[in-house]
Amino acid sequence: MNQVKVTICVGTACYVLGGAELLGMVDEMTAKFGGKVICEGSPCLGFCKLSRNSKAPFALVNDKLLEAATPESLLKAVEEALSEVQNG
Ligand code: FES
Repeated sequence: MNQVKVTICVGTACYVLGGAELLGMVDEMTAKFGGKVICEGSPCLGFCKLSRNSKAPFALVNDKLLEAATPESLLKAVEEALSEVQNG
């Protein structure tokens, strides 16, 4: 697999705490990375219910969980994952 899959939670907790902003990055990431990055929104991923200490919004970059994700941290995680898949 040489693509990176990004799943952005758009369940209520995540959406109001920044998921909407993350979702707004989909076009930017598609323009920047083309077909190397597949982005999708998802209903509640369930992480918000795991612990009081868990912090929305959540996103998955391949299998890596991002908590309290921001556009900056998401972009950084995507760039790291791309470099991993490209370097084997
Ligand atoms: S609303 Fe995002 S993990 Fe539940």
